[in-house]
Amino acid sequence: MRIIVTKDYEEMSRKAANIIAAQVVMKPNSVLGLATGSSPIGAYKLLVEGYKKGDLDFSEITSINLDEYVGLPAYHNQSYAYFMNENLFSHVNIKQENVFLPNGMEADETKECARYDEIIRTLGPIDLQLLGLGENGHIGFNEPDSFFADGTHKVELTESTINANSRLFNSIDEVPRYAYSMGVGSIFRAKHILLIASGQKKAEALRNTVLGLITPEVPASALKLHDNVTIVADEAALSLISALINKDE
Ligand code: F6R
Repeated sequence: MRIIVTKDYEEMSRKAANIIAAQVVMKPNSVLGLATGSSPIGAYKLLVEGYKKGDLDFSEITSINLDEYVGLPAYHNQSYAYFMNENLFSHVNIKQENVFLPNGMEADETKECARYDEIIRTLGPIDLQLLGLGENGHIGFNEPDSFFADGTHKVELTESTINANSRLFNSIDEVPRYAYSMGVGSIFRAKHILLIASGQKKAEALRNTVLGLITPEVPASALKLHDNVTIVADEAALSLISALINKDE
C-alpha cells in the first residue's frame, strides 16, 4: 500500500484527480471503476475542468460504478446514477453506452447480480478502481460481514451506513435499506485501486484498514492483500496512524 498524505479535502481531491487523469491520458480506453459519495466530488469537479480545458478525453473510457440503491430509479435525485450524471458524466464526453451501474429497479436480485457480474467480466479487468471508505470500513456497499463477498450481491445496509447517508435525504425513513454492490472480489481484480478518505470520521476505519487484521468485519482490510493500492487521505483521516507515516519519504 502506498499512502499519500494530504493537508485537507482539497489537496486530496487534486491528488486523486491527477491519478485518475494520468490513467485517462496514458490509456484512453481505460475501464474506470467509479464511486459516489462526498469523497470523490472534488476530484470529479477537477476532472470536468480538465476535460473543459481540453486536457482530458473520455470518449473511449468505460465506467463501471460500484453500487446503486435498490428501489431508486435512475432519475431519482438520490440514486447513484443521478449522482454520476450530475457530478461527472453529463459534463464530459463519455458515451452513455459506456456507462454502467447496477439497476436499482430490478427486483430479481439473482438476475441483476448475474447481469452486472457479466458486465464486469466482459469489460474488465478494471484498470483503476476508485473507492471511498465507509465509517465502518465498508468499500462499495460491502458492509462488515463474516466473509468477503466475491461478486455483485444485494446488501442490507447497516444502521451506521443508513445514518451516514441520511444527511442527503429529507428524512432517515427515506434512505433505502438495500443496495446492489460490486463484491470485494470484483474490486480486488482491478489492476490499481485508489482509496480516498477525508476527515476525522474516517480515522478509525482507516486505521483498521491499514493496521488492523485482514477481516471481513473491516471490508477495506482486504486491500492489504492487493499489490497495487494507493491511499490518498488527509491528515484528519490519517490522524490515528500519522505517527507511523513519515511524510518526508
Ligand atoms: C459509494 C460507495 C461507498 C462510499 C462510502 C464513503 O459509491 O461505494 O462505499 O464510498 O460510503 O462515502 P462518503 O464519500 O460519502 O463518505
